[in-house]
Formats: sequence, structure tokens, C-alpha cells
Amino acid sequence: MATTTTTVELGERSYPIVIGHGLLGRYDLAAHVQGRDCLVVSNETVAPLYLKALTVCLGGKSVASIALKDGEAWKTLSAVESILDRLVESGANRDTTVIALGGGVVGDIAGFAAACYMRGVGFIQVPTTLLAQVDSSVGGKTGVNHPGGKNLVGAFHQPRIVLIDTDTLQTLPDRELKAGLAEVIKHGAIADAGFFAWLEANMPALLARDPEALAHAVRRSCEIKAAVVAEDEREAGRRAILNFGHTFGHAIERCQGYGEWLHGEAVAAGMVMAAALSDIDDEARGRIAALIESAGLPAAPPKIGSAAMSAAMGMDKKVQDKKLRFVLLDRLGHAFTTADFDAQRLAAIVAAVDG
Ligand code: NAD
Ligand code: GLY
Repeated sequence: MATTTTTVELGERSYPIVIGHGLLGRYDLAAHVQGRDCLVVSNETVAPLYLKALTVCLGGKSVASIALKDGEAWKTLSAVESILDRLVESGANRDTTVIALGGGVVGDIAGFAAACYMRGVGFIQVPTTLLAQVDSSVGGKTGVNHPGGKNLVGAFHQPRIVLIDTDTLQTLPDRELKAGLAEVIKHGAIADAGFFAWLEANMPALLARDPEALAHAVRRSCEIKAAVVAEDEREAGRRAILNFGHTFGHAIERCQGYGEWLHGEAVAAGMVMAAALSDIDDEARGRIAALIESAGLPAAPPKIGSAAMSAAMGMDKKVQDKKLRFVLLDRLGHAFTTADFDAQRLAAIVAAVDG
């Protein structure tokens, strides 16, 4: 399997996404590090698996590391503070590079710390979950949760390179692999009907972690996300299509209190709901639900109650003036955002979460 490179085209801040297998322990990442000093931010699960191999890629550099606690619950400002403390204590300067080794949680925290330290130091993403490889490591969104909301505190801070070793997916728990597949399916649904059909044919291979199939899914997802980000880095418009299924999905997560379903699981059910709200034919809706089911993901929301779901979506009376916007499909492989949707149909979709 060849190593490939996709570029996120952002003028002088453009950066490569290098995708291949066997890259950790072999790829010359040091060539992408400006100064001498690197701080690798990982967590207590991923560091024992891959930190040694990443350090080999940084030969000739001075490499320090920090292992955060594992889990969304630790995606907090205090985790950022612990990284900043370490940077200050070690006398890090503007040439220091922060490297995230882990899933989306580690990437979001480390990226935000890199954005804050000295108003921004170099940042590199080495994502090790499928979700991080196909979504969170690309595009520069960084941040942490606040008691008042998920991802409420953050910054845009693009990495200098994203290094994806698809071999790391072999150690990923099954449930996390499937959650990542939800975002892969999303990319097909919103931007590439041919890729969607490829996923239908190759889902068994993906679930069996066939290296070639995984590499193709990661590569095509990164190409799609890179193109959207290049068009609309700060989400002034088009980038919002990446949130297909997320209005419903976030509401599911919020109602459950976070942590019951994984983000990808909630997005999976959310995509089926968003497809139901879209003006597409029944065959396309059926294909979306079937692909999600074939990935072992939920195609229906949990019975969280329509009142709670409406409130979580901002549909309740208190926020009546706020106009809801949805990402909908006008055909399989093409999405758009709109505030002009069938309110009756939405009410029926939300009513389905009553027990
Ligand atoms: P995660 O980072 O919590 O990783 C999932 C689990 O897998 C963790 O326990 C982790 O330690 C473990 N793990 C990671 N790599 C492993 C490997 N190779 N082998 C074995 N175990 C491994 O979860 P995630 O799904 O990667 O990321 C979710 C986070 O990403 C959320 O906080 C979400 O808000 C964020 N996110 C950010 C963006 C963005 O654009 N910045 C986009 C989507 C999601
Ligand atoms: N995950 C959506 C985005 O990066 O814009």
C-alpha cells in the first residue's frame, strides 16, 4: 500500500495529510519540525502503544512528552493548563512544536494549548482513532468542553502536517472503529455518491480492518474534508455541511448526558433523521439507514422523549426566536444547509423518540 499525500489548501498555511501504513517508527517527521524542541501530548492509553515509535520519527529533536488522562471527561481547561505549565517549566519558546498523538480528545486539547501558548506555536497531528483520522485532525478546530457546553472554549489553529498511520487502527476498540465509520459514511452521503456506493460494497472489509480498505476510506474522507475546509476554513458557510446529522446527534448526546452513546453513534442515528427531513427519494433514505446498520451503528434514536429532544435542539418555547438550521441532502452525495425545512415533518421525526 503506497503512502499518499493530500494537501489542505490554505495559502501559506497549507499543509499535507500523509496517509500510509507502517509510518510510525519510519516516517521522517523531524523534517516538518521547525525548531529543536517538541512536546508530544498523548494519553495514558495511547502513549504506551505508540509514543516510542513516534519518537523514532523525531530523531535529532529534543522530545518531551505528557500523558493526559483518557476520556472526554478530561477534555477541560485544566488539561490545557497542565500542558501550558509544562511548556513554561521547560522554557519552551515560539519555535517549540506541540504534537498530538491520540484520538480527537487529545488532538483538540493539544491543539488548543498550541494555539494559546505564546499566541500560537507549531502544531502537528498524529491521529490514532478512525474518527480523528477522518475528521478531527483535519481542519484546525481545537478546543475543550466547559460545564456550560461541549467544545465551548476553543480556537482555529491549523496543524503543520497530519501524519496518519492506518496501522494504529488495528488496536482500536471495535466500538470506536464503528463510531469513526459514522463520519466516513457522512462524507459519502454529503459529497460523493460513488464513495457511498464503495462503502456499501466494502463495509465487511472495513469492519474486518482490511488495511487497504481502511486506507482508502481514510484517504477519501480526508480529501473530502480537505476540500471543504479549503473552501471555508472558518465555517462562514459551506463547512457547515460537515455537520450532517449533528443537530440531531448533538441533541441525543445532550439528552443522554454525554458518554452513553459515542459521538459517532449519535451522529449515525442523527443522519437517518436528517435524511428523513431531506427531500430525497425513499430508496436513498433506505440506503443511508442500511449502510449505517451494516456498520453496526444505530439507525434509530434512543427513546429520550420528544420534549427533551426538542429542548436540546433549541426547538422549545424559550428559544422560539432562534431559527433552526439543518444540513439536508438534495440527493445522495450532495448536502446543503437551510433554515427552510418542513416543520411538520420535523415534528413527526422528533415525535419518534417518545417511548
Ligand atoms: P477519543 O479521543 O476519546 O478516543 C477514543 C478512545 O480510543 C480513547 O479511549 C483513546 O484513548 C483510545 N485510543 C485512541 N487511539 C487508539 C488506538 N490506536 N488504539 C487503542 N485505543 C486508542 O475519541 P475520538 O472519537 O477519537 O474523538 C472524539 C473527540 O473528537 C470529541 O471530543 C469530539 O468533540 C472531537 N471532535 C473534534 C473535531 C474537530 O474538528 N476538532 C471533529 C470531530 C470530533
Ligand atoms: N467536524 C466538523 C468540522 O470540522 O467542521
